[in-house]
Amino acid sequence: MITIKEITATDTYAVRQPVLRNGKPIENCHFTGDDLPTTKHFGIQTDILIGVISLFENKNELFTNEVQFQIRGMAILEDFQGLGLGEKLISYSEKYITSEKNTLIWFNARVLAVGFYEKMNYQKKGNSFEIQDIGTHYVMYKIV
Ligand SMILES: CC(C)(COP(=O)(O)OP(=O)(O)OC[C@H]1O[C@@H](n2cnc3c(N)ncnc32)[C@H](O)[C@@H]1OP(=O)(O)O)[C@@H](O)C(=O)NCCC(=O)NCCS
Repeated sequence: MITIKEITATDTYAVRQPVLRNGKPIENCHFTGDDLPTTKHFGIQTDILIGVISLFENKNELFTNEVQFQIRGMAILEDFQGLGLGEKLISYSEKYITSEKNTLIWFNARVLAVGFYEKMNYQKKGNSFEIQDIGTHYVMYKIV
């Protein structure tokens, strides 16, 4: 059975490391703000953790919305990609966030994942930019 539940920042490393920080030290899996009380981490799992997502209350100056959340560390283990689990995690997070209306969700999307987010009705904002050691990204957003 597949379930989604709240997990700790440290729990996310089991997926962040192989998918997002492959070959890099575990310290690289820590994101600034991971342990703030306003930051939430969710995991999708069977008997093991398969995918993770983190929600940060964090404003981007590109947007004027009063309430903004940033998605970070969205990752599904390679063997489980393409099975609809990423979509489930995003939908779950959107429902969690929509307790307040007109909330803006934004994030820096890896260029290879832009198509995934477009399927979930996120839009690109502005031009692409580079994040050192990780690659080309776009800011993407959606009002939920
Ligand atoms: C990107 C990622 C989170 C997507 O999760 P997933 O579980 O593999 O995606 P899903 O199976 O839920 O896909 C949902 C839909 O998006 C499509 N999709 C998935 N990945 C895609 C991609 N990279 N480009 C375009 N479309 C994609 C699927 O085909 C599916 O479409 P369908 O409903 O028409 O069949 C996952 O593949 C991943 O962890 N990738 C590596 C890390 C990464 O890039 N993370 C994002 C950092 S910004």
